[in-house]
Parts: sequence; structure tokens; C-alpha cells
Amino acid sequence: MVYNFPIALFADPAVAPHLAQQMADLLNIPLVSDPQGYQVYFKLTPDHLELIAFEKDNKKPSSLRVDFTTFKNLHRVKNPHKELLIRAIKIRKKIPATVVDATGGLGRDAFLLAAAGCRVDIFERNCFIGALLADGLRRAALHPQTARVCNRIRLHIQNTVRHIGELSTPPEVVYLDPMFPERDKSAKVKQNLRTLRYIEGDQGEEQELLAAVWTIKPRKIVVKRPLKSPPLCELPPTYTIKGKAVRFDIYIPASFAGDSTPWPNTRC
Ligand SMILES: C[S@@+](CC[C@H](N)C(=O)[O-])C[C@H]1O[C@@H](n2cnc3c(N)ncnc32)[C@H](O)[C@@H]1O
Repeated sequence: MVYNFPIALFADPAVAPHLAQQMADLLNIPLVSDPQGYQVYFKLTPDHLELIAFEKDNKKPSSLRVDFTTFKNLHRVKNPHKELLIRAIKIRKKIPATVVDATGGLGRDAFLLAAAGCRVDIFERNCFIGALLADGLRRAALHPQTARVCNRIRLHIQNTVRHIGELSTPPEVVYLDPMFPERDKSAKVKQNLRTLRYIEGDQGEEQELLAAVWTIKPRKIVVKRPLKSPPLCELPPTYTIKGKAVRFDIYIPASFAGDSTPWPNTRC
């Protein structure tokens, strides 16, 4: 992977050296005994993996890790049917058996989909984000309240555009949540998103993404958008479900005429 900032792995002394080296090799970054001087680095503890980032305007570094066993997440996944995303993915009022989350990120949405009963294949193209997600899923698989949900999730640290066609069975629904355009910088959740954006970079590719998922002919494609943004690739959706801060644009590929992708003049 090409990234334009120095990054390293720092391991807590309690981590066995061979495990630390294994993780550094996996991430393809150097293992250092002192992270000073790195604006962004991974920290491996005996319990978890996290990403530490020093941002320009913040005195304190931000820490990014995936934890599906927090009180907040457990509460959210206990009542998945109240969530707008779950309403959006339903087909004839039923939860689909299979969903691909084509833009996995930190896995919050994918976990919710699995909690609602779907089998979820997550694709995440960024190996740093993928490593954080894999670590969160590993710990959730050991927790009595989240293990069953984890059994329904498969993670592919791969680019959807190139690999979605390799699934043995096409999913009923594909979910897309491409990075939103940058906005204000206040809340904690946004800090996580900012760190995500920083390590992800702006790699575009939205048109290719939509084309790739269209090609495998799911029954539904669900796209999360900021409330006031234009639709992805300026392709008008079949219908929309609106929430307070976001909306879900829903495409039913079968309702579009012809076999090819339906956006001749788009600007992505
Ligand atoms: C806004 S985040 C998704 C957040 C996610 N819905 C969640 O609940 O945490 C978008 C993610 O999509 C990933 N992504 C973008 N294009 C991709 C592609 N072509 N294949 C796989 N992952 C992709 C990015 O690396 C980024 O991590």
C-alpha cells in the first residue's frame, strides 16, 4: 500500500517480541522501541491494537481502536431493528440473508447488519483500517454477548472493485458508505472519522465502486449519504429514506432499464 506519512508499530513491553514482529510484518511497517517523532503510529498491547495520531490542532493525541463490546455498541446491537440502516436494507419488509458491506471502515454498520441477522461479507481496502477491524472482531468473537454476531461476519481486507466478483454467491444487498466530504471538527466521533480519513487519504474511485457492485446484480444497493449531498455519482436513486443527519439512497438495479450501468454523464 502507498501512504504518504511515516508510520510504525510500537509494542507494549508485555507483548512477546515475536508477536510484535509478526504484526509489524503484517502491516508492512517498521517495529520501533520508541514511537517519539511519529505523528501516527500503531500501538500493540496484550489486549488490543490501536492507532495513535497527533493532529495539528489537538494537544492530545487521538486513539482509534475497534471495540464492539462497549456498552454503547451492545445497546445499539440489542435493538438493531430501530435503526434506519436496517429499515433501508429490508426487502419486502424482510431482513435479507446476505449483505456485502463494500466499504467496511471500522465495521460499525456491518456489525449492526450482522446483529439484525444478515450474513455479512465486509470489504475494506485499507490494510491499516482492516487490521484495526480484524482486531476488534477477534476480541468480539471471544465475548459472550457478541460472539454469535461475529459468526455471521467475514472480513476481506481487499478492494471491493477488484474482488467482489470472487464471492461464491452474490449477496442480496450491497451496502456502500463512502467517505463523506469533510465538514466540522468538533465531536469525538468526528475525530475518529478524521483519523480514518487521514490514513485512508482521498482515493476517489466512487464510480468504479458503484459500477463493480452494480455488475454483480444484487437486488438492492443501499448508499449512505449526508442529508444534503447529491446522490453518489449523481445517479438518482429509486427511492430514499431520510434520517436526522444522514439519508439512505436505495437503488433497485432491476428497475433500471438495460444491462449496463446507468450513468453516462456523471462527475465523480
Ligand atoms: C466512511 S468509511 C465506512 C464506515 C463504516 N460504514 C463503519 O460503519 O465504520 C469508508 C471506508 O470505505 C473504505 N473503502 C473505500 N473504497 C473502498 C473500496 N473500493 N474497497 C474497499 N473499501 C473501500 C475506506 O477505506 C474506508 O475505510
